[in-house]
Amino acid sequence: MEKKIAQIIDNFAEAAKNATDSASVEKLRVAFLGKKGEISELMKDLKSAPSEQKKAFGQKINQLKKDVEARLVELTATIEQKELEALINSTESYDVTMPSRVETGSYHPITLIQREVEDIFAAMGFTIEDYDEIVDDYHCFEALNIPKHHPARDMQDTYYLDNGQLLKTHTSAAQNAIMRKYGAPLRAIFPGRCFRNEAIDACHENTFFQMEGIMIDKDISISNLIYFMKTMLSEVFQRDVQVRLRPGFFPFVEPGFELDISCQVCGGTGCPSCKNSGWLELCPCGMIHPNVLTAGGIDPEEYTGFAFGLGLTRLAMMKYGVKDIRTFNSGNLKALSQFESL
Ligand code: PHE
Repeated sequence: MEKKIAQIIDNFAEAAKNATDSASVEKLRVAFLGKKGEISELMKDLKSAPSEQKKAFGQKINQLKKDVEARLVELTATIEQKELEALINSTESYDVTMPSRVETGSYHPITLIQREVEDIFAAMGFTIEDYDEIVDDYHCFEALNIPKHHPARDMQDTYYLDNGQLLKTHTSAAQNAIMRKYGAPLRAIFPGRCFRNEAIDACHENTFFQMEGIMIDKDISISNLIYFMKTMLSEVFQRDVQVRLRPGFFPFVEPGFELDISCQVCGGTGCPSCKNSGWLELCPCGMIHPNVLTAGGIDPEEYTGFAFGLGLTRLAMMKYGVKDIRTFNSGNLKALSQFESL
């Protein structure tokens, strides 16, 4: 046992000479103190030592362990110091004042406006619903009081799949499912991507975003609709926004309207953006047609409600002053990454 201890001391001293970097010090630690290291093996031998010698040997081994540990700490400190000096003296140098080029990414302007509007409606008690982009004819048209061959379908030509389904032309396509899901009373908004067969120009895209909203309860009237729209728009634009209603036709509302807002560019006095009228068309809306309520399983004798189809893409154009709608789907990061982050 004595011999073995002396041998280990020699071995360690020899090995330590070659430990010139942090990695080799770690190897040394494993070789001597690790589970299968020389000192751990010695501990196993201790079990078979004659019992009168056990105590003395035990103490020696413990001392050896402590010495090795202390030596390893010393070695590490010297090596770290050397490594640091080498780094300082090396020709490689770092300029800590150089600006870093970490790209953080940014939200798409439609996402920004969508979340903003969602927060405003959520605060007014509306639930936020998600709905499919691929729908069937019933949900997109028939449940909305647009029978086959109705001329209103002409405005909403879209992309049809081989199985007869289609890419939804408006977020109204979710109305029926949401009425059936919750019944009345109900307040919900449902943003979504819509698709139409459009001739594309600065104001028209084949892919755009809307945010639909419905509120159904007893005694809901047009004044409720005006109140919610005005509150939401004033929040989005951070100032008092004027709205006006003009008659508009949509088979799923009666009466139906086009809601205009005072032009945010000129403040209503007239400019090229609003074609000198002082108003911008933003949001078709109206009182939900009794046939649509019935299709959604809600009794139109008991409940009334309003619906609106806010043009999210158009709202983003107004809020951020984007002049060409094609910017949104362009993937042009220079244009799309300049808006505030959330
Ligand atoms: N879904 C209609 C469209 O996209 C807009 C609308 C929604 C009209 C809700 C009235 C009520 O053209």
